Amino acid sequence: MVEIVPSILSADFARLAEEIASVERGGATILHLDVMDGHFVPNITIGPPVVASIRKATRAHLDCHLMIERPEQYAKAFIEAGANSVSVHYEACRHLDATLAMIKDAGAMAGVVLNPATPVAMLEDVLEVADYVLLMSVNPGWGGQKLIPYVLEKARKLCRMRREKKLAFPIEIDGGIHPENLAEAVRAGCEWIVTGSAIFHSSNAEATTREMREIAAQATAVRC
Ligand code: DX5
Ligand code: ZN
Repeated sequence: MVEIVPSILSADFARLAEEIASVERGGATILHLDVMDGHFVPNITIGPPVVASIRKATRAHLDCHLMIERPEQYAKAFIEAGANSVSVHYEACRHLDATLAMIKDAGAMAGVVLNPATPVAMLEDVLEVADYVLLMSVNPGWGGQKLIPYVLEKARKLCRMRREKKLAFPIEIDGGIHPENLAEAVRAGCEWIVTGSAIFHSSNAEATTREMREIAAQATAVRC
């Protein structure tokens, strides 16, 4: 099942509850929350208190994308704040297996994220442990960037690895997705389609969410 996953990074934070209600009316059931620390990526965004406030405003699945150093020190605080899934960067984890286990033990889905330049082959052995894999289709740090085309080939490769290993984890893609390239991401095997500026910088976030959900539903994944 393909899901359009709005990233609140491009929402108006002063009207966050309204912005969330609007994408939920458009059919979104998962929200993507980008956590940046000014070290792993140059930008700084939100921490656990904001996630706890969002938790009170919605029953949607909260998907926390940790773009931070030492994610193992902070993941639990985000789960206690209400995150349903937490993803950590392969590039930021010294002990990825242990960090994924810790996230699961704390009661959330555990995801692993790859920067554009990190090959999917690095995940070969850990795939059976991860609950989902997030492929960055831009260099992390900001919304509103252009999708890096070779990431779609990475999605196809990952999709093949998943089939060969008889696994079923969702593949998430994040960055530069808009109504015009969305079908291509679905055809490449992605199921959780993160999109920020295309939704929140449009004139009607609810209508754009609905429109993107329809495009995604019509695009069928090509067998990888
Ligand atoms: C970028 C973030 C993304 C961002 C995507 O580092 O991880 O989730 O919000 O924004 P768009 O859809 O505008 O590329
Ligand atoms: Zn993200």
